[in-house]
Amino acid sequence: MKAFIEGMPKAELHVHLEGTLEPEHIFALAQRNGIELSYKTPQEVVDAYDFHDLPSFLTIYYAAMDVLRTEQDFYELAYHYFEKAAADNIVYVEPFFDPQAHTSRGVEFATVINGIARAQEAAAATLGVESQLILCFLRDMSAQSAMEHLEMALPYKDKLIGIGLDSDEKDNPPSKFAQVFAKAREHGLKLTMHCDVNQKDIHEHMWECLNEINVDRIDHGVNCLDQDDLTQEIVRRGMGLTVCPVSNRFVVQSLTSKEIRRMLELGIKATINSDDPAYFRAYLTDNFLELQREGDYTLEEVVQLNRNAFDIAWLTDADKQRLLGKLDRYVARAS
Ligand code: HPA
Ligand code: ZN
Repeated sequence: MKAFIEGMPKAELHVHLEGTLEPEHIFALAQRNGIELSYKTPQEVVDAYDFHDLPSFLTIYYAAMDVLRTEQDFYELAYHYFEKAAADNIVYVEPFFDPQAHTSRGVEFATVINGIARAQEAAAATLGVESQLILCFLRDMSAQSAMEHLEMALPYKDKLIGIGLDSDEKDNPPSKFAQVFAKAREHGLKLTMHCDVNQKDIHEHMWECLNEINVDRIDHGVNCLDQDDLTQEIVRRGMGLTVCPVSNRFVVQSLTSKEIRRMLELGIKATINSDDPAYFRAYLTDNFLELQREGDYTLEEVVQLNRNAFDIAWLTDADKQRLLGKLDRYVARAS
């Protein structure tokens, strides 16, 4: 099982590039950019990772980003993640980035997106990791700021596949961003939003995602199982969910293996993802391995979760079939 999971060609649809910033890289960037850190070693950084809910994670996540300043920094951030992805046999990824977390520190939008885009090209050419980028708005900032950033992003539209919504969910409902998401849709961008585990008003947020925003996917979304009518609507729409088992453990003390199995039983297109792997100390293969162990998942369940990721990816049908072919051949060889 372990070797099978490690070797399986995978897709990842929920990973924040800023959440792949490793402590060693924080140190290297701080030194290059002349920034003094309050930690003496990368291990001290890890030791300070004390998350128990979304806000306690976000405080540490935003503070560390201060070392990212130049286009080369963003290139390295993304390229290091793509190297990890290649080691996990990820062949396709739709990573998130948070431009407002950088423009608010005086870093130009162009610096961020050009560095990331250059890394995407290099990773496809040299590592065989294909990717399409999702721009996330920070929901604890204003709708006006989100709109300003959408305007900034439109000249770079060909570098983006979709728009997402992340950061602190409390009292920041999807409806706050209805206008900006409608405009993004008019420009042909796909739409997704975080519905993090066990947040305040989570069921209302999920309904707003479905009925007011008309999202193409939901990130996390585990709480869809709490209400029958919500569950049925997710099933009826064939809505994809990007679930993050190790990330969930920081909030609900479980990898939610029971919930994810229930989703599979219901035919919900659940997928497995790493969210912020440098912080949660688990990349995609680790998420699969730990989930399989906790839930005693079968090979078929593991493959189905991974197949769902290719299925709900924002790829052309031809590209989906091409990548699913890699998975099918792998499964056929292994059995
Ligand atoms: N939820 C909300 N905001 C985030 C996350 C998340 O999982 N990761 C990075 N920013
Ligand atoms: Zn996330």
